[in-house]
Amino acid sequence: MTQELSENPNPLRELSPQDLRAHAAEAMTRARARSALLTDAVDDSDLVRQHSKLMSPLVWDLAHIGSQEELWLVRDVGGREPVRGDLDEIYDAFMHARADRPSLPMLGPAEARRYVGEVRAKSLEVLETAPLEGSRLTESAFAFGMITQHEQQHDETMLATHQLRRGEPVLHAPEPPPARSGRLPAEVFVPAGPFVMGTSAEPWALDNERPAHEVSVAAFFIDTTPVTNGQYLEFLTGGGYDEERWWSTAGWAHIKQAGIDAPRFWHREPDGWWRTRFGVHEPVPVAEPVVHVSFHEAEAYAAWAGKRLPTEPEWEKAARYDPATGRSRRFPWGDGEPTSDQANLGQRHLRPAVAGAYPEGASPLGVHQLIGDVWEWTSSDFGPYPGFAVFPYKEYSEVFFGPDYKVLRGGSFGTDVAAVRSTFRNWDYPIRRQIFSGFRCARDAGRGES
Ligand code: AVJ
Ligand code: FE
Repeated sequence: MTQELSENPNPLRELSPQDLRAHAAEAMTRARARSALLTDAVDDSDLVRQHSKLMSPLVWDLAHIGSQEELWLVRDVGGREPVRGDLDEIYDAFMHARADRPSLPMLGPAEARRYVGEVRAKSLEVLETAPLEGSRLTESAFAFGMITQHEQQHDETMLATHQLRRGEPVLHAPEPPPARSGRLPAEVFVPAGPFVMGTSAEPWALDNERPAHEVSVAAFFIDTTPVTNGQYLEFLTGGGYDEERWWSTAGWAHIKQAGIDAPRFWHREPDGWWRTRFGVHEPVPVAEPVVHVSFHEAEAYAAWAGKRLPTEPEWEKAARYDPATGRSRRFPWGDGEPTSDQANLGQRHLRPAVAGAYPEGASPLGVHQLIGDVWEWTSSDFGPYPGFAVFPYKEYSEVFFGPDYKVLRGGSFGTDVAAVRSTFRNWDYPIRRQIFSGFRCARDAGRGES
């Protein structure tokens, strides 16, 4: 029997204009509460300091969030006068590299808070009256969703800045759930054949996720869960960082030049490996997915394990393809927004949950923890899908297409649900590891194997 391949419909499309406005306002308010928490947790001197050359001062992120919101919601959608036209250049991420941002005439903490509050009051007024149809920018409240995702992405970046910051812990959260699955198989078989990748149904999907298109993959196996610290430690203590054969040329050159011999934030102590996590010094927990590894480290581990990283189509097929219906889901568990039983998202916990903690979040094929916990490196370069069209600005995705960036999938414990789904694509340089990055492995299925 041949199945009709398709994507499941999106619940947002069913909402009345009033409910859609309420949904957008709620998402914007949740993002702002997170931005406030991350910036109120430290004092003013901490807010203006650059904690790492890789990051902006937290106060830059805050006002940049407001500046993007002013540009798109107040001026473009709302057609209103600028709140602070003089700020555009300071908060244009393309005009100033992160390393140079501390020298900009930035708004101070009090001014930045006042500014984002003023912009927010106006954008919520615009949301009340904007026609939610008739233009692609306002259709299904897209611009409000885009700005919400932008804020949540910067909230995850600010969380990474907190992880780089030295000093006593200032962020606190409950522990994630323990393992709740019985013993899981190490790998899951994914059958050969086509599935629908990308989306044309998700109203708030960003340009690089579009459009939906059929992709065929050969049969393969994928790890049931992300690779754990315990597994990674076997590679490390077995001499993985000393053996060139596991590494790509670029990866080997980088770890030797940078002096890297363990995941970022790990320290060797007389009694084993410890790590620092938001100011807490603790033994590396073996059952938890490894985090703060680069693409090069992920690739080397996979080679050592006799496997490889999944490609982007493989990852997405494992995450959303339902063999019973031939349809692609919004999330591994179905089409509804995640519950706290399905995924570790939204900075609800300040660490990945152990492997096996989310049986309710498994995909139809039985792959666990694809959404949340850790971003997962894939072997794919960041590029456009067939039929890609820039929308609404080329500096979101298009300028990053090419071989310099590798794609990460699935979101981390630091990602809000507004900024992740089975089609969501993140990207970074292969050497980066201050982000909440981990991985899982895949391998080809030999003929006749299942
Ligand atoms: C999609 C996470 C790579 O942070 O560089 C924020 C998101 N784009 N502001 C980034 C983004 C513009 C982007 N990533
Ligand atoms: Fe930005």
